[in-house]
Amino acid sequence: MTRHERLTDPRDRHFSAALDFGREWLRAPLRVGAVAPSGSALARAMTRGLSDEDGPVLELGPGTGVFTAALLARGIPPERIAAIELGEHFAVALARRLPRVTVLQGDAARVGRLTPFGAGQAGSVVCGLPLLSMPPSIVLRILAGGFAALKPDGQFRLFTYGPKCPVPAPILDRVGIVARRAAFVPLNIPPASVYILKREVRAA
Ligand SMILES: C[S@@+](CC[C@H](N)C(=O)[O-])C[C@H]1O[C@@H](n2cnc3c(N)ncnc32)[C@H](O)[C@@H]1O
Repeated sequence: MTRHERLTDPRDRHFSAALDFGREWLRAPLRVGAVAPSGSALARAMTRGLSDEDGPVLELGPGTGVFTAALLARGIPPERIAAIELGEHFAVALARRLPRVTVLQGDAARVGRLTPFGAGQAGSVVCGLPLLSMPPSIVLRILAGGFAALKPDGQFRLFTYGPKCPVPAPILDRVGIVARRAAFVPLNIPPASVYILKREVRAA
């Protein structure tokens, strides 16, 4: 095996992503919120059914880019993906690896202002943030900002290791959204559930 083959071997890439992730977790365990990147089964569940028609896509907390790669594999063009990552190391590494994806180093709580697609223009938000370890006021800002960035029928996807939706009911009510569990992924470490949040349709 040549050096080039070794460096482009996907197993090497996964190994190096896991190392990067572990290093970031040592630096900022609360921000990172997990000791390893999500597995491919969770990445597939998070992006199931999405296609270019569901774009453009805003990704929150991409980390090493497991969900970004799954979005690309679903046929969403890189120019129609923007990822907001607070960690400088993650942001720089992702921008280097996927130069056609817009990677913004910033706080997902400012997603309503940071979206490069314009207010109310994104088709989907794919959220990899550790919402359970965030204060409710920040979760509210992320949800309100995310829905301000979305089209009226846009969807906000997230995952959790917990037994129920990590967005507390008063925040769902305040933003006017409903959540449904779309998948349970036992093969992830730890097992995770995927939720899809949408604006509540109220009877006229
Ligand atoms: C649990 S990791 C998930 C990473 C990746 N989506 C995955 O599933 O493997 C959470 C990610 O969110 C990022 N993050 C945490 N707080 C953030 C914030 N306020 N704004 C943007 N990114 C944030 C962390 O740096 C980390 O990359």
